[in-house]
Amino acid sequence: MEENCEKENTKTLLECLKGRRGNAVPFWLMRQAGRYLPEYRKLRSSTGGFLDLVYDPKKAAEVTMQPIRRFGMNGAILFSDILVIPHALGQPVTFEAGEGPKLSPILIAEDFKKLNVERIDRTLEPIYETVSNVVHGLKAEGFDDTAMIGFAGSPWTVACYMIEGGGSKVFEATKYWAYRHPESFSELINIISGATLHYLSRQIEAGAEAIQIFDSWSGILNSENFARWVIEPTKSIVDALKKRHPDIPVIGFAREAGVKLEDYALGSGVDAIGIDYSMPPEWVRDHIQIHKPVQGNLDPVALLAGGDTLKKSATHILEVFSTGKNPFIFNLGHGVIKDTAPECVEELCEIIREFKA
Ligand code: CP3
Repeated sequence: MEENCEKENTKTLLECLKGRRGNAVPFWLMRQAGRYLPEYRKLRSSTGGFLDLVYDPKKAAEVTMQPIRRFGMNGAILFSDILVIPHALGQPVTFEAGEGPKLSPILIAEDFKKLNVERIDRTLEPIYETVSNVVHGLKAEGFDDTAMIGFAGSPWTVACYMIEGGGSKVFEATKYWAYRHPESFSELINIISGATLHYLSRQIEAGAEAIQIFDSWSGILNSENFARWVIEPTKSIVDALKKRHPDIPVIGFAREAGVKLEDYALGSGVDAIGIDYSMPPEWVRDHIQIHKPVQGNLDPVALLAGGDTLKKSATHILEVFSTGKNPFIFNLGHGVIKDTAPECVEELCEIIREFKA
């Protein structure tokens, strides 16, 4: 059709995020760079800590490129972590091998008054350089249909780690603070939102072509608090980003939001919706994909299992989402598990590439 004439040079993933469906299903995988790849483990073992790798623009760009060279995904996600924001704001963050992240917990409102948004670029500057290195690397190595994806955690999920001091199953202290003292909690969310907006803008200025906002712990909130602490802050960040960079699509991944995902799709301002593996694809097609492009939702354990399990799960997802109103991007419903065999990822790539709607 005539409206497609001028769009020959844009990338498949970006077209889908803008609501235009092509013949092929684009794909990338959350945590596609990381410990399941021998080349990552090698590079990681020659670098001090995890954050030393994240703040090394050459090495972080190399790690970002590793899965692209093997599998040719349509998206290259920046190699970094959502916890660089608390780190850059002045909260000590460490990653101990095998233990997950540790932060010195923020226990009272007085603590976060010391966080300093003005200073974040002192820490984050190398990450912007990584983005620009990846953009150049993709071009130099001929990956013309791979888009550079920048990211950040949502203010809610980042606050969870900042208050709890690390991972948790229920983040009770954070919820208690949000429910019991919403005014001071809102001040913390505003500080994180301001830092996140700046961080994402700088990633875009360095060459990121799409953005994903990870809201890993949005599922633990009831609907009223989901609206206030997930949808509202996300919308304020997305609205401000759109004013500065109207053409950059934003994917929102509100993990385990369940049926609240419909409010999120309609209220958060994001362009496309990440779908975790707990969601039935048929429900998502009928309630979410009618509004926006969707991305997901293979169970990472199905990828770990490989073989028939993988083939069956992946094909079902492809079949259902290819009948939806808006485009579909294949991805997992959460990150690649570290014991996954790279051969299973190769199998998945073939299943997606060979699929005909
Ligand atoms: O490939 C990619 O997806 C890009 C890189 C990326 C990392 N973390 C690298 C990483 C991304 C997008 C993230 C996001 C992230 N980080 C989230 C949101 C997504 C999710 O998983 O729900 C969260 C909650 C974090 C916080 C975090 N970072 C945790 C809980 C952990 C420890 C658990 C684990 O899997 O090890 C990390 C460490 C981390 N982030 C690693 C990597 C590759 C492992 C560290 C290592 O290799 O030593």
